[in-house]
Amino acid sequence: MNINSNFLNLYESYLFDTVSRRVKAFREKNPERDVISLSIGDVTQPLVPAVVRAMEKAVKEMGEKSTFRGYGPEATCYAYPELLRAIQRHYSLRGVSLKEGEIFVSDGAKSDLGNLSDLFSKENVVLFPDPVYPAYADVNIMAGRRILYADALPENNFLPMPDGRRADIVYLCSPNNPTGAAYDRAQLRKWVDYAKEVNAVIFYDAAYEGFLGEKFPHTIYEIEGAKECAIEICSFSKFAGFTGVRCGYTIVPLELKSGNVFLNALFRRRQTTRFNGVSYVTQMGAAAAYSEEGEAECRENLLVYRENAKRIAETLDELKIPYTGGKNAPYLWLKSPLKGSSWDFFDFLLERAAVVGTPGSGFGKCGEGYLRLTAFGSPERTEEACQRLKLVL
Ligand code: MLT
Repeated sequence: MNINSNFLNLYESYLFDTVSRRVKAFREKNPERDVISLSIGDVTQPLVPAVVRAMEKAVKEMGEKSTFRGYGPEATCYAYPELLRAIQRHYSLRGVSLKEGEIFVSDGAKSDLGNLSDLFSKENVVLFPDPVYPAYADVNIMAGRRILYADALPENNFLPMPDGRRADIVYLCSPNNPTGAAYDRAQLRKWVDYAKEVNAVIFYDAAYEGFLGEKFPHTIYEIEGAKECAIEICSFSKFAGFTGVRCGYTIVPLELKSGNVFLNALFRRRQTTRFNGVSYVTQMGAAAAYSEEGEAECRENLLVYRENAKRIAETLDELKIPYTGGKNAPYLWLKSPLKGSSWDFFDFLLERAAVVGTPGSGFGKCGEGYLRLTAFGSPERTEEACQRLKLVL
């Protein structure tokens, strides 16, 4: 028996797993300390009323013989029409028209970022910003692909652009996790032109689009021609508070091809083989989150997180600590005011303030010396964390 030895090239544990182990060890050693986590981007606001009502109704239907459902509809890869229509509506608000067959409902963006990897050979060269969501790197290390990093630094406003290097797969995340930087229309246009020129496919991670201001594109398909070169991955986790419920979707346009092969057909083949869909109850909840009423309620929750981001930003301003993000994204990316590494700063904050951030180096080598704070905490805990930062920094 031989294992996939590419796994041996990974860090021993996933970034957020490493953070949680270190926090657990700290709690065990210091049971009297009240630890505040502003590390993983986990939501704290409850599901909105429109979603709760839809899920309750769906549960009741599942408990009645006449309305019970088993597997979802095979024709649409187990997605129910209510959810497909709601996603179509969400995109139509941005002037983007999607066909039912282009939408694949999933249990979240992270899964599909990995699932899409099945479609591409290990000889492909991948490119993504550094720093960026660590799953992109890990998935491609597991597959044994060569990775090119595009440095995201203050000099380029943390928004790397095509630089002449050739890649087959490009991952973009806007607003970016962890820096919060967001591509504008002209910049995305350049990435789309690049992808078409070198025959690359863009994996566009739109998980945080709900935080973007109006001047930014919310989907890559707002850029003309993007359907010929981009797959978009999105999630209800952050917009609708579904980190525990689990629902997302991936758009694979019907016209997207690699040579003569349509990627939509390939992904459909993959999904029907390896996946049996998302539960009916969850899909009805997700559909409600994208209804007119649900969207308005979800946006109220996002305001709470925006307020947290503002509060953290004011604190950093007071402390004269340079940072970016927080305006169009739920993350703040700050430069450590201390000498030493990101992990040294992480340890300092944990030990001195019992506040947990995410070490920037976990998102890539350009993240060394930075730390990410999330605005997804509760307002009370965020305020308390800010007070503590002021005491120790
Ligand atoms: C993060 O903190 O980066 C995200 O919550 C992780 C995720 O979405 O999987």
